[in-house]
Amino acid sequence: MKAEQETEEKNRALNALAHNDVRYRRYTIEEIEEATDKFASSNKIGEGGYGPVYKGKLDHTPVAIKALRPDAAQGKKQFQQEVEVLSTIRHPHMVLLLGACPEYGVLVYEYMDNGSLEDRLLQKQNTPPIPWSTRFKIAAEIATALLFLHQAKPEPLVHRDLKPANILLDRNYVSKISDVGLARLVPPSLADSVTQYHMTSAAGTFCYIDPEYQQTGMLTTRSDIYSLGIMLLQIITAKPPMGLAHQVGRAIERGRFADMLDQTVADWPVEEALRFAILALKCAELRKRDRPSLATVIVPELNRLRDLGMNTEQQRSNNIIQRRGVSSRGSSRSPLPHPKSSSQARMSNATQRGLNKLLIRKRATAKKVKRQLTRTKTRKLIPDGKESKKRSKTKRRGNRRMFVWDDKYLQDSE
Ligand SMILES: Nc1ncnc2c1ncn2[C@@H]1O[C@H](COP(=O)(O)OP(=O)(O)OP(=O)(O)O)[C@@H](O)[C@H]1O
Ligand SMILES: [Mg+2]
Repeated sequence: MKAEQETEEKNRALNALAHNDVRYRRYTIEEIEEATDKFASSNKIGEGGYGPVYKGKLDHTPVAIKALRPDAAQGKKQFQQEVEVLSTIRHPHMVLLLGACPEYGVLVYEYMDNGSLEDRLLQKQNTPPIPWSTRFKIAAEIATALLFLHQAKPEPLVHRDLKPANILLDRNYVSKISDVGLARLVPPSLADSVTQYHMTSAAGTFCYIDPEYQQTGMLTTRSDIYSLGIMLLQIITAKPPMGLAHQVGRAIERGRFADMLDQTVADWPVEEALRFAILALKCAELRKRDRPSLATVIVPELNRLRDLGMNTEQQRSNNIIQRRGVSSRGSSRSPLPHPKSSSQARMSNATQRGLNKLLIRKRATAKKVKRQLTRTKTRKLIPDGKESKKRSKTKRRGNRRMFVWDDKYLQDSE
């Protein structure tokens, strides 16, 4: 009899566990207040569309606490449902949602020591420039995490707000996408004011929105690709997003692409950076269908560039070790070369030749595609010159810029 009772109790407990499928830690508002020192402004580390962000400590772990703006009355149940979905999505390059206080719309995330990619690109608080190899690595990481989101089951997840401010960096500059699904948590009543908020306080956000989505209201994973394209351009140029695709496109046409690269980095591999830029421009095509596939084009190409960066770093550290070994044996070898000045890095003759070759090939590719797309008005990528100027003038009337992606183009120029 007693054994029966015990089994029944055990089953009841297991049942309760199975149904009360708690995927995230629920914090009380008292715990949150204690962690943030009652939302003290000295603990505030930023503010976005959702509300202020505070640094705090919960369970002896540093955390970032995001509080929904008080004027936003969020449906408790809906919030809970959404947070449950988000807490099941895990990827090494996505910021971990540790828990929430659903009654007050508070979200608790892992704390990322190096803050946002935007702040590091702009070198806020005098942080050092991010080396090009790390930039390539970050780009590959973001693309991989994005692919994971887009392949989520049962439905793909669209991030909707990709931009350098939403890429966070840990102490080792490992990057993670933040605010995944946050747009879904903002109640419709607030959505307009959030947009307004973004437009007035940070006009930047507006520049990342897929123009086709703006026109049609149809949101798909390809909308994220547009934002990714703009962000990739910022990763190599550290320039504001407004008109950036246009500026980079023109610089390539005029053979002045190297001038667009972030000059705080002295040793850009210009040809590889150009391939990176062309991929980015393709992502930022105005029409969804002209943007490349994340799985078959973007991720493989960014992984290739990431590997190139890693190999270069490896080579560099091997050289340092070798030279140190030699000099410690009393060799009279000259010291390590100084890093190239940015003007030197701007373009060596060999690189210039390579770039010219690339532009010539690009012209050939553009010609080929133009033939294929006779019905579509395309603007060709041709370096400066009387003839090309004349042609692009007529093409410009179509008011559409099209960078023609062709895998062969990249392989050709190896
Ligand atoms: N997990 C975190 N770790 C460290 N800092 C963070 C974290 N989350 C946010 N921050 C900081 O807070 C700032 C504001 O973040 P928040 O996400 O609220 O705004 P945003 O990214 O500028 O805009 P949006 O509302 O579109 O996301 C970030 O730029 C970053 O500096
Ligand atoms: Mg954010």
